Formats: sequence, C-alpha cells, structure tokens
Amino acid sequence: MKRPFAELWGTGSYTPKRVMTNDEFSTILDTSDQWIRERTGIRERRVAGPDESNACMAKAAAEQVLKDTGLTPLDLDALIVATCSPDRLLPSQACDLQALLGAKRAAAFDVQAACTGFLYALSVAEGMVAADQAQHVLVVATEKLTTIMDWSDRTTAVLFGDGAGATIVRRSPSDRGILSRYLKSDGTLAELLYRPGGGAAHPPDERLLKDHSYFIKMAGREVFKAAVLSMADACDQALQQAGLTGADIDLLIPHQANIRIIEATAKHAGLPMDKVYVNVDRFGNTSAASVAIALDEAVRCGRLQPGMKVMFCAFGAGFTWASMVVQW
Ligand code: ACO
Repeated sequence: MKRPFAELWGTGSYTPKRVMTNDEFSTILDTSDQWIRERTGIRERRVAGPDESNACMAKAAAEQVLKDTGLTPLDLDALIVATCSPDRLLPSQACDLQALLGAKRAAAFDVQAACTGFLYALSVAEGMVAADQAQHVLVVATEKLTTIMDWSDRTTAVLFGDGAGATIVRRSPSDRGILSRYLKSDGTLAELLYRPGGGAAHPPDERLLKDHSYFIKMAGREVFKAAVLSMADACDQALQQAGLTGADIDLLIPHQANIRIIEATAKHAGLPMDKVYVNVDRFGNTSAASVAIALDEAVRCGRLQPGMKVMFCAFGAGFTWASMVVQW
C-alpha cells in the first residue's frame, strides 16, 4: 500500500444546545414521532439560536482542533469552510470565520457541495498540502439548515438540524493519513434537491417570501434512490482505489441523512452495523457538517482508535457524492 501523503490531525465539533424532538414537530405539523423514526431513524435534532451563527459554531469546532493539535490560529495557512447555509452570501463563510479566529496568515474560502462538502473540502485541502501551497489547512463544515428549510413542509422540515465539525489537514509524518479519495457529481439531477429562489436567477422579491421558493425543495423518494446508488458507488470507488475490501474497514462514517440509506450502504460495502457510526437519531441531517460531527464524536468516545481504517462516504444536492478511506 502507498504511504499516505496527508493526514487528518485533531478533530472538533459543536452542536447547538437546543434539542427539538419529533413530538415537538407533531405539534406544528401533520406528522408523528413514529412516522419520523420509522422512515428516517431521527428522534431529535439541534436547532441553533440567534446567538449560534455558523461563524460561532465553526469557531467553537475549530478551537477544539487547535487545542488537540497545539496549533494557534497564526499557524493556519488556509481555512476552508464547507457549507450550503452560510450566515451571509458575501463574503465567504470562511472569511468571517478567519476574522473571528484571528487566523491572519490564512487564505480563506468556501466549498459548496451540499452534504458532500466536508469530503470535497478535505480533498481540496489534501491537494493544497501536496502542492506545497499550505502546511496546515483547517477544514470546517458548518450548517444552520433550520434557517433555509420550510417549517411548514413536513416532507423536509423534520429531516434537518444544525451544527459544525472540523479537522486539520497536514503532510503526514507517519503511516497515518488519506489512503484514497473519490469525488463525483451529476448536475442533471440538480432539481431533485435545491433552493429555487434567492440567487441571481430569481433575486429576492416579494414573491419569494410568499411562494417559499427561498427554502429547500426536495423530491424525497427520488433523492432516496439516487442516494442509495451514489453511496454504493462512493464506497466501491474508495475501496478499490485503496486496494481494500469492506472487510478491511474498521469503521464506516457515512453521511447521516436517513438510517435506511445508511443500512443499505453498509450492506453494500459488506459491513455489519456494529462497524458503522450512527448519530442521525440525535442530530438529523446536518448536511456538510454531518460526517465532521460524527468523526469528532467517534474519536472522542473511542470508537475510532489509532491504527484503524475508517471510510467516509456522503451524498448531497447537486447531485454530489464522495468518499475517502483514512488510516487513523
Ligand atoms: N410525516 C408524516 N407523513 C409524511 C411526512 C412526515 N414528516 N413526510 C411525508 N409524509 C407522507 C407523504 O406525504 C406520503 O403520503 P401519501 O402516500 O399520502 O402521498 C407518505 O408519507 C410517504 O411519503 P414518501 O416520500 O414516499 O416516504 P418515504 O418513505 O420515501 O420517506 C423521506 C420520505 C424520509 C424523505 C425519504 O424519501 C428520504 O429520506 N429521502 C432522502 C432524503 C435525503 O436524504 N435528503 C437529504 C439529501 S442531502 C442534502 O444535500 C441536503
């Protein structure tokens, strides 16, 4: 096996204090705890308050990574934020985070690949390190999806939650690190999951506020099918590139959108569910932040131990999908 070039160094995450249960949703929408649990595996999610901006959540996650690694904000050469729900559309979320952190030396920019964003950003960071453009790249995924979802639409509102996760990518000083990575997109599927209004094609106007086109629209059943296929492809490609099979993987950390998608993915990769990290029950779908939050939890609770091989896989709007095998 080839020696990894770059490694993920330190982890961090932040999830908002406010827990919203399925039962609370059933008081505002025609839904039930039973329906949500059986169809999605979600029991509750976190909802960020007005003081919990993406910048604040991202900063909290980043500070844990800095503490883990002993680095200071001035050691960061680049700062990449993955998000599809930034605090504001201009400048990038990454520049706002840079200012809050005081990472004065860093280049800062966003990557938008919806729920796949964290894996896309890790791959970009690996490329920067490989090209000697940067020594330490902070990668943060943060989402405040509860501000862009339609609270009156039961087919989407119950699925999403808020939070942030982070890590640093640097040149690997050992055998730890990224063994393979795979990125893929299919823009012809864009309208399965999108926000029709609010951009340059449909700038903000009165109609936008009335027709709810500013919010996430999703063809759930079609997204489900595309998700199962793309997650299977993602696992196949990352394993093949690393010269491994599912049996070599100690822990799978998939995008946390729906327990049924996670189970289908694990089955395809030949992994029993006790080798799969699941927190969709507690956080719902936090889009780009999902794999990042799960990674930090898996490290902190001891599920992911040094020497293990971990595989990440994710899918999202675009359609985008991606995967990565990492020697931890
Ligand atoms: N409560 C009660 N009933 C509901 C709810 C709800 N919250 N939502 C939908 N229903 C109803 C529907 O209206 C439908 O009723 P009908 O038969 O009378 O028309 C019925 O339940 C079945 O609806 P389906 O959409 O067929 O249900 P399904 O089993 O497919 O589950 C779900 C829906 C959970 C959305 C599923 O399709 C799914 O998870 N899809 C993937 C979604 C996803 O992962 N999105 C994230 C993408 S990542 C990103 O980039 C943000």
